[in-house]
Amino acid sequence: MAAQSASSLQLPSSLFPRLLLPVLLLFLLGFEPTVLGIARTTSGDVVGTFESPHPGSKFEHLTVNKQKPTLYVGAVNYLYSLYGDLSLWQEVKTGPQKDNPDCPPPMVQFTECVHTKKDMDSYNKALVVDYKNQRLIACSSLFHGFCEKRNLDDISQRDTPSYQPVVANNKNSSTVAYIAPGPPKEPGQVQPDVLYVSVSWTRVGQSIWRERVPAFASRNLTDFNLAIRNQFRQTVIKIEVQQRESFPVSYIYGFGSEGFSYMITIQKRSAQSEEYISKIFRVCQRDENFYSYVEVELKCSKGATNYNLVQAAYLGRPGKNLARQLKIPTTEDVLFTVFSKGHDSSQNPTAESALCMYPMRKVRRIFTENIQKCFSGIGNTGPDHIAKPVQCLKNTVSTENRKRVTVEEVLSCFVDYQ
Ligand SMILES: *[C@@H]1O[C@H](CO)[C@@H](O)[C@H](O)[C@H]1NC(C)=O
Ligand SMILES: *[C@@H]1O[C@H](CO)[C@@H](O)[C@H](O)[C@H]1NC(C)=O
Repeated sequence: MAAQSASSLQLPSSLFPRLLLPVLLLFLLGFEPTVLGIARTTSGDVVGTFESPHPGSKFEHLTVNKQKPTLYVGAVNYLYSLYGDLSLWQEVKTGPQKDNPDCPPPMVQFTECVHTKKDMDSYNKALVVDYKNQRLIACSSLFHGFCEKRNLDDISQRDTPSYQPVVANNKNSSTVAYIAPGPPKEPGQVQPDVLYVSVSWTRVGQSIWRERVPAFASRNLTDFNLAIRNQFRQTVIKIEVQQRESFPVSYIYGFGSEGFSYMITIQKRSAQSEEYISKIFRVCQRDENFYSYVEVELKCSKGATNYNLVQAAYLGRPGKNLARQLKIPTTEDVLFTVFSKGHDSSQNPTAESALCMYPMRKVRRIFTENIQKCFSGIGNTGPDHIAKPVQCLKNTVSTENRKRVTVEEVLSCFVDYQ
């Protein structure tokens, strides 16, 4: 486990101007995986196939209803539900639809648009099973990137959409969405499920509409508004306005585990750097203001080869043999990842790839160690695409209004801190 660079903690004054205590954490320590192998594919074990009934309509997302089992496929202009043997159950047409990204979203509070609308393809940007409400959440690139909810047992039945902009509004920009617990309504109450969403910045349409879609947010499953939004708090992380275009972040995967919600990204090492690296960031699920935001580098290397670009990831549990090898119980989460070695100064992968596994207990420990390091005076806060870096100070971090934060408050997710 090698230190890559220093760590940090910070107050982004331009980010949350209305907040009492704007604190944001960033840590830049990398960590090595526990187990590594070279990825290999096998082709001999095909048990079923489903071919697109609409040639040219590419599949974009696949999700499984574990209670049934059924599968859902999000494709260009279509959604499909499949039986467990991959035979077709239902299909729904989602596009093309008349749209123009310069028009406001088709929400009741906005007046009609003067721009001409034309047929635009619907790219599926997210597909999530909401078990508690028995809904399939399917998000489309149309109308500024909206999400709709469909009946899990009949995807032709949909709830009236709110047309809240939530996801990317074009074909290629990344979006990652998943359901995990959010802050409780009152301290001590049950934590309701919310939708965690990360979205790359896009240049499609007027920026006043894109600004409604933050880099990371948690949202209410009923209406897709922010899970928390009031005078003092909001469950949002935004990239600095000046850096949105020059500092692209690609979101690869996200998941909730043991009280935290995580996202895995590819981004430049810093705003000034041309080197691309992979990162994992997290927030505490109980945190109503994402004060607890912290990111660390996610490294996958063997010998001198650095597989710097994460391509896919999955949170699962180890089988008996793997658990023994990792020295953890079979009940603990492990993050499985596939990385590629990148071409220099580019997000494009080469053909060289590797599989890396990270027990989540180790990931949590790295985050804790990094937070403690900053409080021992080592490193800076940041990251500079979110907030101006400031030197970590011993024992406390002062904020704008001279309030001070302790390491205990950070590690306890600010939950009792007003
Ligand atoms: C989207 O990505 C594909 C494949 O990488 C590329 O060929 C295409 O030009 C991209 N489209 C846009 C609009 O960027
Ligand atoms: C989500 O929003 C609805 C109103 O649209 C509200 O009734 C509900 O309490 C909200 N859920 C949470 C967890 O805040």
